[in-house]
Amino acid sequence: MNLLVTGGAGLIGSNVVHYTLRHRPQCRITVLDAMTYAGSQASLAAAGNRVELVVGRIEDPALVDRLVAASDVVVHFAAESHNDNSISNPLPFVTTNVVGTFTLLEAVRKHKKRLHHVSTDEVFGDLELDDPERFRETTPYNPSSPYSATKAGSDLLVKAWVRTFKVNATISNCSNNYGPYQHIEKFIPRQITNVLGGRKPRLYGEGKNVRDWIHVDDHNAAVWAILERGQPGGYYMIGADGEQNNKAVISLILELMGKPADWYDHVNDRPGHDLRYAIDAAKIRRELGWTPRYTTFRDGLAATIAWYRDNTAWWQPLKEAVEAKYAKQGQ
Ligand code: NAD
Ligand code: DAU
Repeated sequence: MNLLVTGGAGLIGSNVVHYTLRHRPQCRITVLDAMTYAGSQASLAAAGNRVELVVGRIEDPALVDRLVAASDVVVHFAAESHNDNSISNPLPFVTTNVVGTFTLLEAVRKHKKRLHHVSTDEVFGDLELDDPERFRETTPYNPSSPYSATKAGSDLLVKAWVRTFKVNATISNCSNNYGPYQHIEKFIPRQITNVLGGRKPRLYGEGKNVRDWIHVDDHNAAVWAILERGQPGGYYMIGADGEQNNKAVISLILELMGKPADWYDHVNDRPGHDLRYAIDAAKIRRELGWTPRYTTFRDGLAATIAWYRDNTAWWQPLKEAVEAKYAKQGQ
């Protein structure tokens, strides 16, 4: 199989490359990535010459047409992915997430190729802390941030292309990922690298917001289950029953890294901050037989801390600029 991975130099895309080389060694992988601030060639270094990296943009129709024509299956991760950036500068989110997905859909339609579109639980908005409901495949879309609105737009484009043009596509909506190669602007690696560098962790607002954490390898195992056994046109929620509030996550990081429980700062909250995400993944478990392997958050987090401790060269050059940007926002 010739697999085209868009956004393969980011967190989930680079991990899917490594996962695929381990579990589906017969695949030939091409990565299309614009190498924005979020992409890293070092994240693909372990793949050596088993992967072809094409540097280019997902909204470039000629390039995307050529790469899709040469592939059998496309997995679409390329996106602007950080909520805080979408609040300070929304335009790149519209360009990459909406126009980019449109560009890819047109190529997939023309060449009649299989597409899996990777999306987020944020398209559904948020839940109250005590709501017994969780997000499912039938939950109405209600995005809050410019990031989640553009991801919702991209999902709706895929749904329209499936219905109107009979494109062979599936969609998954996953909760918050953690693991190696995650950019240090994101919550967990920001706090780990803060502690490693002698800075206190930074908690937005009171820290009561809940995220439903899943290890990136569990996400990618689910993506492969959909590629191999998913219903054409199907939608799948992906989550590992990993709900934690942000304060609890910081407490666990501090404990695992040998720091006092109160060694963190409260900083400005995120405007429009979603309160809680929670996924009901019953459909993918039942229909595709997928189950998460990293079921103990403490162990997955300890392994992630060890990865950042052992890979300072990967993240240290980014740290000062990331923190300077946050400092301007009072975060
Ligand atoms: P990331 O920011 O780590 O990586 C995104 C990658 O896309 C980067 O390598 C970047 O260079 C590339 N890219 C950005 N704009 C591009 C463009 N115009 N053309 C080509 N490449 C471009 O993101 P991630 O966390 O790995 O997320 C990957 C996908 O998974 C996104 O679609 C995101 O919405 C979705 N998702 C993420 C999570 C999460 O918790 N991280 C959860 C659910 C879904
Ligand atoms: O739910 C899936 C989504 O998860 C993905 O679609 C996004 O691409 C991904 O970035 C993530 O979005 P979040 O906004 O939930 O993740 P982030 O890591 O930015 O923040 C997680 C929580 O931690 C959120 O409630 C904000 C809070 N936070 C974040 C940072 C960076 C802090 O308290 N302090 C921080 O320093």
